[in-house]
Amino acid sequence: MSGTRENWGSRFGFVMAAAGSAVGLGNMWGFPYKAGEHGGAFLIIYLALVMVFGLSLVVAEFVLGRASQRSPVGAFRIMAGRGWPALGVLGIATAFVILSFYIVVAGWTVAYIGLMARGALAGGQPEAMNDIFNAFVTRPIAPIVYAGGFMIASAAVVIGGVSRGIERTSKLLMPMLFVILIVLALRSVTLPGAGVGLSYFLVPDWSAVTGATWTAAISQVFFSLSLGMGAMLTYSSYMPREHNLPRNASLVVTLDTLVALLAGLAIIPAVFAVGLQVDAGPSLTFITLPAVFAQMPGGVYFGVLFFILLAIAALTSAVSLLEVVVSYFVDEHNMRRAPVTVLCALLVFALGVPSSLSMGVWSDNTIFGQSFLDLMNFISTGVMMPIGGLLIALCVGWVVGPKAIEALKSHPDQAMPLAGLWLFILRFVAPVGIAWILLQSFIG
Ligand code: PHE
Repeated sequence: MSGTRENWGSRFGFVMAAAGSAVGLGNMWGFPYKAGEHGGAFLIIYLALVMVFGLSLVVAEFVLGRASQRSPVGAFRIMAGRGWPALGVLGIATAFVILSFYIVVAGWTVAYIGLMARGALAGGQPEAMNDIFNAFVTRPIAPIVYAGGFMIASAAVVIGGVSRGIERTSKLLMPMLFVILIVLALRSVTLPGAGVGLSYFLVPDWSAVTGATWTAAISQVFFSLSLGMGAMLTYSSYMPREHNLPRNASLVVTLDTLVALLAGLAIIPAVFAVGLQVDAGPSLTFITLPAVFAQMPGGVYFGVLFFILLAIAALTSAVSLLEVVVSYFVDEHNMRRAPVTVLCALLVFALGVPSSLSMGVWSDNTIFGQSFLDLMNFISTGVMMPIGGLLIALCVGWVVGPKAIEALKSHPDQAMPLAGLWLFILRFVAPVGIAWILLQSFIG
């Protein structure tokens, strides 16, 4: 096949890159605010769903990628045959749409590093933080400039290529991220009054669980593990044959989950400790948290660290989204990486502009009652990703089927533990579970 295909330089490099894709705004921003909104049982439901759906689907995508050595379109053609490459195209479209609004929110995190460092957020009360946030995101130009800068940074990494760009960046940034996150979590749980928040986060409260809790948890699993759109598939297509695939998959899933857990520990107890509301929803990160830092000893430093952490996490995720799109043109159309990356980045940025403007000057133009940014978010993560995940489960479960287990068995030390259970989940449990969320999100 492709003897010259680039590979990851080491197992550590692959795991850092794949964890870099998984660990992102989803962990640092989405997970804590959802756990805050839904209360204690969210964590345990999330963990259960990660183990059942998350791990099975990561292994499924890894098998498709590594066995075919291709990005999504080629992988489905080689592994599943006629018709299935359309699923790869869906994945590329999903990556494209997600990236377009992801760079906008990522741009905010970069802007907040500056705001924090300059002391602009030192004032303290959530009302003031609300005003600052709104004043920033409704500006017509500045947020677009930040999104553009973020797009350029992501493109620069992707142009560097798999091993020299993505792997090198991830190996540097991911350990940094862990250190910062641990510092922040320690600060949070040692604040006086953190105990209430700790038990709110960790002790299950089943009375607060509704259907919406389950829907939020499963879509969080998908988004957080970069599933359903071929990011994990694409990264694993550069995985050398000698790597132990099931072990790599469990490592990536464990790291992603650990980061979500630490992010929850870094945020929820701190919010309780300063007596603010933890159920603010999406604005928890940009409005509640700066107010928390303002009231915390040394809060400016921890605040700057926090937004640096967010920007790092977002960068390695944005890189993986861009790589899904770029690798298609490189693999299937033999195009050169650098020009394709520049072109894709420009197109993604162009779609990001209306998302950014929809926070301010275009906020009156809603579509189905949603802003453009919310709509892009809903279409990609609420519809396209679950559909992608459902079809990938069906594809690996029924079409690739036992051949997928064979692909692992060719290496005696890489046999998939519980292979039968894995296929059963892909064939029945995952499709039914995902179809159910899709239904819920449409009814909702
Ligand atoms: N997993 C990333 C996060 O948690 C987002 C992402 C989704 C990245 C899909 C790549 C693919 O923020």
